[in-house]
This record gives sequence, structure tokens and C-alpha cells, in this order.
Amino acid sequence: MKPKAFVTRPLPAAALGRLASRCEVAVHPEDGALQPAQLGAACRDVEGLLVVGGRVNEEVLKDAPRLRVVANCGVGYDNIDVAACTARGIVVTNTPGVLTDTTADLAFALLMAVARRVVEGDRLVREGRWQWSMLWGADIHHQTLGLYGFGRIGQALARRGRGFEMRVIYHDVQRAGAEIERELAAQFVDQETLLRESDFLSLHVPLTPETHHLIGARELTLMKPFAFLINTARGKVVDEEALVEALKSHRIAGAGLDVFEHEPHLHPELAKLENVVLLPHLGSATAETRLKMALLAVENLLAALDGRRPPNIVNPEVYA
Ligand code: 8YV
Repeated sequence: MKPKAFVTRPLPAAALGRLASRCEVAVHPEDGALQPAQLGAACRDVEGLLVVGGRVNEEVLKDAPRLRVVANCGVGYDNIDVAACTARGIVVTNTPGVLTDTTADLAFALLMAVARRVVEGDRLVREGRWQWSMLWGADIHHQTLGLYGFGRIGQALARRGRGFEMRVIYHDVQRAGAEIERELAAQFVDQETLLRESDFLSLHVPLTPETHHLIGARELTLMKPFAFLINTARGKVVDEEALVEALKSHRIAGAGLDVFEHEPHLHPELAKLENVVLLPHLGSATAETRLKMALLAVENLLAALDGRRPPNIVNPEVYA
């Protein structure tokens, strides 16, 4: 008998086909995230859970006694209570690598859109309010790109910044090797220097208790008044209330946001501001990348169900 798998959102057909070749598959057919109680109910006799957004916590796990693997379709796994999974012997996996360049592309798109007022311009043209003389934006080339977090995606953004002849500085809890710094012409600086010197500050840290509200009122005050904040990491890394205040008072010039503190709910003030560009968590959203992520998540899930070690295991201690 095939093991049972549950998928929390529709996936590309090729990935579902591969999963269905080995499992009895049920898919939540809608785009909205399932609440933990609904997800728990859907996982009652399921061995493999493939998660595309949505929380997996104790409330879900207590209703899913047969669960052996939670395969996250995403690199960030702050939506999963990994410790609770480990305690129950459940393998957790993610999808690193395949979305690095796509997410960095989107971060750079946000940076350009907010600096050059692309969305505002588009609105004016559509509304027949053509303006040539007023929509002055900010230069990108030769400015300082600050990267908070210098893992795969941060480094990919540094490469894009170099193409625009930007000066690249970064801060991370772990300094990169000398070879990477040389290749990307990236300079390691302390947190305060990063905040003070960046013209564009882009966030690339995972959400952990340590990075919750990493950017708050104090940090925003240290930034240049003509600097822009770009967030494609996680909304909770930024104190959104403080950010709204900084944007309203022009304490900083603007922000490009792909993620929000209470996603999918938007801070009501953000929608009223002109100096922000807002996207619905599109970082990895290209057809090619979403297919690669889905296929990788499926391979991780199948490996765990086969009793093999999945390629992208988050909690190897589960095997201890
Ligand atoms: C996913 C992401 O779309 O990979 C991540 O960490 O934020 C996105 O690529 C999101 O996790 C939903 O699956």
C-alpha cells in the first residue's frame, strides 16, 4: 500500500505527478494558508506533509500521529516548529539553493522600482496624469549597497550590485571567507556602520528569535534620510510600526517590501504611502524556480519515507 501524503497548496503538475507515483496524494486545492486545526485534521492518517506556506506546530502534530516527514517548499522554515517535529521523530526538510538567484533578482527589482519610482510612474501614466518634471528618483549606480545577512541570497545580491558598480558592504553573524569577499568586492562592517553607510539596505537573514525586529526605531534612526530599505527575507525581521513611522516622517526615503510582519495582512498605513513598493511575497515566484522547489520538496519527502537521508535535512539530530 502506498503511503499517504498531503500537500497544502496546488503544485506544478510534474511535481504532483512524481509524488503521486509513490504516494496516495491529497492536495488542498486553494491558495489560502490552512489554519493549524484544519491542517491537523487533514493530516490524521498522513505520513508525508508537503508544506507550501502555513504553520506546522504542536497543534497540527498532535493530530498527525503517523507523520514521518514535513517537507517545506521554501528555504526559510520559521513556519515549522522544528523542535516539536524532532521530539516526535519527524524529519524536516527545506529547499535551499534553487531559489537563490530568483530571490536576489526580485530584491534588486524592488530596489530599482522604489528608487526610480517605477510603480508611481506607472500609476500616473494609467491615470492620464503624465508627469515628466517631478518624478525624480534616486541613483542606484555607484551608491552603497548594504547587505544584512551574507548567505547565498545576500551574496547573489552583491553580484547584482557589482553589475551596477555599487560599493558593497555587509554584516553577518559570521564573516565570509577572504576569497568570497575579494570575488564580490564586499567589505565586512559592523552593524552600526552598515546602517549608517548604506544607501540601499537589503535584508537577507533568516527569522529566528535573534533576528526578530532586527530593524526597529533605533536602527532606522541610524540610517541616512535618503536611504531605502529592501526586505525580501521575513516581515518580522522589521518592526513594521517603527518602519511606518520612519516612512511617514521621511526619516528614510522609502522601502521595497515583499514580506510583512503580519502577512498576508497589511499594515493599514503602508497602503497609503507613496514611498513604498509592496509585493505579495513573490521572491521565488517564477515558473522555473517554483517547479524546481516543488520537485526538490518532493524528492526530500520521498527520501524520508523510503528511510533514506533526504538531501536537504533541517534537523539531522532526528536520526541520533
Ligand atoms: C516561499 C520563501 O514562497 O523559500 C522561502 O523561504 O519565502 C518563499 O520562496 C515561501 O516559503 C512559501 O512556500
